[in-house]
Amino acid sequence: MAEARAPGKAILFGEHAVVYGHPAVAVAIKAGVQVAVSVNKEWAVEGRPLDPTRHPHLKSIISRMPRESGTYSFQISSTLFSAAGQGSSAALSVAAHLALRKQIGEISSTIDAAKSAHLAEADAQSGRASPTDTATSALGGCIVVSSSLPPIAKHVFSAELKTSEGLRKWDVGTVDLQDDSNPPSLVLGFTGNSSKTGKMVAMVADLISSNPKKKHDLDSIGEITEVGLIALASSQWEAVGMAMNACHDRLVSLNLSTPHLERLIESVRPYSFGAKLTGAGGGGCMMALTKEPARVAQMIELCGAKAMISPLHNKGAQILG
Ligand code: PMV
Repeated sequence: MAEARAPGKAILFGEHAVVYGHPAVAVAIKAGVQVAVSVNKEWAVEGRPLDPTRHPHLKSIISRMPRESGTYSFQISSTLFSAAGQGSSAALSVAAHLALRKQIGEISSTIDAAKSAHLAEADAQSGRASPTDTATSALGGCIVVSSSLPPIAKHVFSAELKTSEGLRKWDVGTVDLQDDSNPPSLVLGFTGNSSKTGKMVAMVADLISSNPKKKHDLDSIGEITEVGLIALASSQWEAVGMAMNACHDRLVSLNLSTPHLERLIESVRPYSFGAKLTGAGGGGCMMALTKEPARVAQMIELCGAKAMISPLHNKGAQILG
């Protein structure tokens, strides 16, 4: 048997603007997905034959296995909220890739895992997926994805994808976060409503074509992200929080927030450096950066959402055995 674990992610700055070439900054969170694989007479998940329509990511990961490498059974466990924009399908794909390669005696790098998992996300999402979730899950820490990386990021790999809108290219980089003896925590609040990333991205595209002035909100998110990233790399938490709040205002202007997300964000702001929706919006999760994580988690639960506390610094994917 071989086992691997990969974390979920939270986008601190830049969601939606990244679709238009601006940078996005994401961090790995503590919760994640663990995948164990063992030899089996056919491909199976949790003891049942693998159904490609239920597990399109696994089907895609398997399609890149070397021929004649056998068939295996997957056991999956997750501490992520499901369908909440925490990157659970990316974490599943990364962990499945690493566990399968270990099982066949081939040690894969986390960069290979990120690339294979990105293709799995694209296969499962009709060809549209940025490498943000998969790179953050595989590499851990703080990741920047952009059509051209800001100078503070160290380039790790480049990714490209043929989409129906043409060839899309990204650079993926890491940013070192300083050691801080008392860093703030992230608290994620899940509204309980899943939202479809593709639908929200299409909604923004429609909004911009009917009201081209709204493009300024995306350009503005791009500028705020660059400033927020510099603040993050130098542990200037008040400035990071201000950048998070400023990104959220632009996301509201793009109609991406909901009354429930707004209630959650308002309720935690007095105890946080900053709070914003994270990911696609229209439901899903909000996040706060705070030194009072227990209090913020309590406020989130009082507003009828599920809270999850995570340190800011988290490892990427790991082979467990
Ligand atoms: O899948 P989510 O909820 O993490 O959101 C993805 C972020 C977007 O910028 C909206 C889409 C993308 O492909 O980057």
